Amino acid sequence: MLSDALPIGVLIVAASHFAYASPVVAPDPMVTPSLVRYDPTRTFERRNIISDLAGDVNSVLSELGNVPSYVASGIPDFFQNFPTGGAVVSSLGLNDEQLAALPTQVLNLPPYANWTGQNWNVRFHGNVYKQPNTSREQLDDLANIFLIDTSVEELPPSQADQARNLTASIFVVQQGDLNVTMHIEPAPLAGSSGESGGGGAVTPNGGTQNLTLPYPTTDQGDYDVFLPIQELGLTPGNQATQIQRLNVYAQAQGAMGSNQTNIGNATAYLVPPTGLTIVSDIDDILRVTKIYQPKEGLLNSFARPFTPWMNMPDIYANWSRSIPDFHFHYLTTTPEQATRNYMDFIYKTYPGGSFDTRPLNFSDIEATLSIRQYLLTKVFETFPTRKFILVADTSNSDVMKDYPQLAHDFPNQVQCIFLRNTSATDPGDKFPYDTSGFEGLPQNKYMFFKVPDDLTRLDIVNGQCYNGSIPQNVTFGVQDEVLGIHGSGAGMVGVGGLMGSVLSLAVAVWLVL
Ligand SMILES: *[C@@H]1O[C@H](CO)[C@@H](O)[C@H](O)[C@H]1NC(C)=O
Ligand SMILES: *[C@@H]1O[C@H](CO)[C@@H](O)[C@H](O)[C@H]1NC(C)=O
Ligand SMILES: *[C@@H]1O[C@H](CO)[C@@H](O)[C@H](O)[C@H]1NC(C)=O
Ligand SMILES: *[C@@H]1O[C@H](CO)[C@@H](O)[C@H](O)[C@H]1NC(C)=O
Ligand SMILES: *[C@@H]1O[C@H](CO)[C@@H](O)[C@H](O)[C@H]1NC(C)=O
Ligand SMILES: *[C@@H]1O[C@H](CO)[C@@H](O)[C@H](O)[C@H]1NC(C)=O
Ligand SMILES: *[C@@H]1O[C@H](CO)[C@@H](O)[C@H](O)[C@H]1NC(C)=O
Ligand SMILES: *[C@@H]1O[C@H](CO)[C@@H](O)[C@H](O)[C@H]1NC(C)=O
Ligand SMILES: *[C@@H]1O[C@H](CO)[C@@H](O)[C@H](O)[C@H]1NC(C)=O
Ligand SMILES: *[C@@H]1O[C@H](CO)[C@@H](O)[C@H](O)[C@H]1NC(C)=O
Ligand SMILES: *[C@@H]1O[C@H](CO)[C@@H](O)[C@H](O)[C@H]1NC(C)=O
Ligand SMILES: *[C@@H]1O[C@H](CO)[C@@H](O)[C@H](O)[C@H]1NC(C)=O
Repeated sequence: MLSDALPIGVLIVAASHFAYASPVVAPDPMVTPSLVRYDPTRTFERRNIISDLAGDVNSVLSELGNVPSYVASGIPDFFQNFPTGGAVVSSLGLNDEQLAALPTQVLNLPPYANWTGQNWNVRFHGNVYKQPNTSREQLDDLANIFLIDTSVEELPPSQADQARNLTASIFVVQQGDLNVTMHIEPAPLAGSSGESGGGGAVTPNGGTQNLTLPYPTTDQGDYDVFLPIQELGLTPGNQATQIQRLNVYAQAQGAMGSNQTNIGNATAYLVPPTGLTIVSDIDDILRVTKIYQPKEGLLNSFARPFTPWMNMPDIYANWSRSIPDFHFHYLTTTPEQATRNYMDFIYKTYPGGSFDTRPLNFSDIEATLSIRQYLLTKVFETFPTRKFILVADTSNSDVMKDYPQLAHDFPNQVQCIFLRNTSATDPGDKFPYDTSGFEGLPQNKYMFFKVPDDLTRLDIVNGQCYNGSIPQNVTFGVQDEVLGIHGSGAGMVGVGGLMGSVLSLAVAVWLVL
């Protein structure tokens, strides 16, 4: 446990240390991980400081092992502090001419749209960037920064390729101040192009049009804006029951001297005002990530093929087939740079749907911790009369806070909360989590489950979210398997409170360093 947790600290140190040492290239000085500063010994200092502060309750902490910051965030720290803009340019030694010659690319995230009363209102969001032609040797060096106790050279060839692929998508140069145009047309049904939609989404009879977004891309290349589109044969929202699918082809105009632009395509989902929407996290619920075991988490994210978690695809496939007009929305807090791999996996494995990811301006730790709530609130506000099924796992502390909070704040909108109890099936997950947000919620609104089969034969459309054969026995407070604070260990709740404060202290110290 302890040794597993160490390397993450190393990465954070490597990355944050370099933030201040990095040569600053205008206009966008950002963090670049450094090979040179990779110094495993520094982590020990960090652990001592945490232990010192913990004082009397040191024994509690040492039983737990070290507490990396992602206990608080539920976001793998190897997905933190990626370099952007000028830092990439300088770390790859690119000059203006080389940069200008690169094609401009668009990561266009599959949007959702609501009906305003007059128009369909589409949330276009994504990123414009250039991907340098990085040599294999350079990619191997860069990829090795992210791997623990192994290197690209030691991986099987297919895994080495994936590690290089993801690394290449991290070392991209975002393009600010560009106009983005959208070409929109009806999305043919599955098979011909793109993914099929969940809930039997349909191809509309029209909607073909071109638009230019009202604002240029941000300094970090992002765009994120709701824009009404013309009806032109689309079924208006007040008459629609089915979700309509449009293909959206995005292109950036006027990129730094280069006239070569690649198109970013995505499928947009026009979602009627009423019905059911599922908002699903991805890591450790739809795919095996094991973010709570850093070495495994890194390999599962950087090298190994993305693998579905057990038979979760069957559960979603059944819901997509049997629940009419079910809108799937995938909401992950993985950073934008890693999103293509996530989308690629999801659309091969799960029903088609709209997609949210962590935009670049949410990259400092505080923003990282708040991004899920920000994105969830946006979906809830966009569909105030739809009902939601929320799905994730217990290893994300932001989920554990945000999902029950939404159920308290929007009691008529949250229909079900399904949380995979990660520690129940994975003894490797020793990290504590906090169930206190669930206190006071009716049991038929939520379930902690162990395996996907626990979700079979539930009538979620009519609000049956609890499978009576799955024991709950939840106590409300910090749960910890190492200390035996859980369900039947209700007697130790006092220690739970203590644990909570020690944890926040440890996490705070970790974050400050
Ligand atoms: C990328 O670089 C490699 C050598 O590093 C070269 O063979 C290849 O042609 C380059 N591709 C482009 C599109 O510039
Ligand atoms: C990297 O992976 C993505 C998604 O899996 C794929 O579309 C892309 O072609 C790959 N790029 C390279 C350079 O292999
Ligand atoms: C988007 O483009 C890729 C590659 O050009 C293609 O494989 C995919 O089917 C396209 N998707 C849509 C929705 O058109
Ligand atoms: C819209 O964009 C498409 C593709 O970018 C182009 O072929 C077409 O001519 C444009 N249509 C109009 C009316 O501008
Ligand atoms: C990030 O940018 C979006 C627009 O792309 C903006 O709405 C949002 O407020 C920004 N968030 C932060 C934390 O800067
Ligand atoms: C973006 O569009 C605006 C308004 O049409 C124009 O003034 C500006 O020059 C355009 N920017 C680029 C980079 O093409
Ligand atoms: C634009 O494209 C043309 C034709 O492909 C090419 O000759 C020219 O060099 C390009 N301009 C720039 C600035 O890349
Ligand atoms: C549509 O979505 C926007 C953006 O979230 C929101 O402000 C607006 O209230 C929504 N409209 C309706 C009718 O729900
Ligand atoms: C999760 O599973 C563990 C191990 O079976 C159990 O002790 C704990 O109480 C469960 N947590 C919840 C919230 O159901
Ligand atoms: C409940 O869970 C059990 C065990 O996973 C499963 O066999 C059953 O189909 C589930 N659904 C209902 C309604 O019992
Ligand atoms: C499939 O989903 C429907 C709708 O929620 C449900 O009634 C049915 O029992 C499910 N079947 C299985 C095998 O889970
Ligand atoms: C729930 O916890 C109590 C002790 O608090 C224990 O006696 C009981 O067996 C547990 N029930 C289940 C179904 O695990």
